[in-house]
Amino acid sequence: MPNPQLEAEVKRRRTFAIISHPDAGKTTLTEKLLLYGGAIHLAGTVKARKAARHATSDWMEIEKQRGISVTSSVLQFDYAGCRVNILDTPGHQDFSEDTYRTLLAADSAVMLIDAAKGVEEQTKKLFWVCRQRRIPVFTFVNKLDRHGRSPFDLMDEIEKLLGIRSYPINWPVGMDGDYYGVYNRESEQVELFDTLGDHGQKKAGSRIFSLDDPALKAEIGVACYENLLHDIELLDLAGDSFDMQRIAAGELTPMYFGSAMTNFGVRPFLESFLALAPAPSYRLAGEELIDPLCDSFSAFVFKIQANMNPAHRDRIAFLRICSGMFEKGMSVVHRTSGKTIRLSQPQQFLAQDRVIVEEAYPGDIIGVFDPGIFGIGDTLSSPDFPVTFSDFPVFPPELFARVQPKDSMKRKQFVKGMEQLAQEGTVQIFSQPDTGMESYVAGAIGQLQFEVLEHRLRFEYNAEILMHSLPYTAIRWLVGKKEDLARLKHLENALYVHDRYDRPVLLVANEWALNWLVDRNPDVQFLTAPPNGTIVK
Ligand code: G4P
Repeated sequence: MPNPQLEAEVKRRRTFAIISHPDAGKTTLTEKLLLYGGAIHLAGTVKARKAARHATSDWMEIEKQRGISVTSSVLQFDYAGCRVNILDTPGHQDFSEDTYRTLLAADSAVMLIDAAKGVEEQTKKLFWVCRQRRIPVFTFVNKLDRHGRSPFDLMDEIEKLLGIRSYPINWPVGMDGDYYGVYNRESEQVELFDTLGDHGQKKAGSRIFSLDDPALKAEIGVACYENLLHDIELLDLAGDSFDMQRIAAGELTPMYFGSAMTNFGVRPFLESFLALAPAPSYRLAGEELIDPLCDSFSAFVFKIQANMNPAHRDRIAFLRICSGMFEKGMSVVHRTSGKTIRLSQPQQFLAQDRVIVEEAYPGDIIGVFDPGIFGIGDTLSSPDFPVTFSDFPVFPPELFARVQPKDSMKRKQFVKGMEQLAQEGTVQIFSQPDTGMESYVAGAIGQLQFEVLEHRLRFEYNAEILMHSLPYTAIRWLVGKKEDLARLKHLENALYVHDRYDRPVLLVANEWALNWLVDRNPDVQFLTAPPNGTIVK
């Protein structure tokens, strides 16, 4: 018998992430959703803090941006009976592992597209992660207040580049980049928005007309009206029909138009999105599907943020709750180590403030103090519920560098920093067994990760490092007998290392060298992801 309170709470949760290319307007839209959700009363504060952060350089002054990057990681508010959890994602092009991981905690995604630029590089990559996870993607075409591409053009591009058809829920009213409102295809009404010229600090006023109201024609002009009728007809005739199943399977994207800056289209988007977006559902743990309504608690760590408060050197692990009810002070088992942990000071993030949470439900994100044993992807669950969430992706690094402490007296801080930052996922680390070398090999996807590593080791762990890049570009996890693996230990074009879990790994200079090794070692498996890992390209 499902617990009725749990059922009601799960049903009203909407946990989603906004995915976009930098500058498409994610910060602005997030802030406007908070404005409409009543979590803030005047837009401009989040944005202002972001601007201040930019002034101090994006990633290098990391401790300075902690405030915003943490509080904006998870934002919660209530709207129309729903409990909304927005997972904001760092938008930097070169450092997107964090973003990918955040998507694992989301039940749906909002793909934000700049109307003038269309589908951009970063959006494509993030979209593929959503597709792989089969989560529904909703599209918001932004910046309609200025000249952009034709909506039909954008629909075509989405299909061509992302392989997904779109279903416009609403349609912009106006012509050639001069838009005044949106037409809702379901209610057959047009909503015209007032432009206040204050960059949308306050909610936009609007007036609603039915499509056949002569006042509408008078308001927007005959040409614009005719154009709208023509577009609607074309959509109805040639477009896809609304199909909730295809949306849920990530095969059709509901599409909205608006301007996060002037607030036009924001409220209609929010309302429709909350009505259509899925509540938390089943999650795969090994072979088993975990029902969110199951009485036992389970959650996984999708993000770890260390040293949020430099005075306390604390580490916060962000958990996505997957099943059961969470209560403050409850004891859970950390499945990787088998240790029982009491979650005594869980925190939640309400707009820009942190609050202690008394209870939370599937779909919610809570931050808990990490006693130093949590890793990304780890499962925490009730003692009588031994599950392990397994579909956590592994990102094969493409850049490698040898890292060692500048001052060998600081070795202790260095090791602690490397281990902790690797747990957080700043870089991946590897060690060279049997060589006794006082160094690690760090692996990254983008160069910026190395810069972040260096900076954080210096400022948070007081350990300066020497870093030399290594000429390897590919990584393979090895499975084979000891004597077969031993042959791979001292090669010229490859480096034999162990990953953090002591699994043997080979770093290889190039494809050619790799193929050569694969051919000559038929008894060894060369895996692109660690055994049990899901690879993300
Ligand atoms: P991001 O988080 O996706 O990187 O984007 P962000 O919201 O910071 O927006 C990037 C730029 O796009 C900002 O301009 C922002 O004002 C602008 N923008 C966002 N939404 C809209 C929109 O609907 N219409 C128009 N015309 N512009 C929009 P900026 O010049 O970088 O900053 P600011 O001086 O405006 O603060």
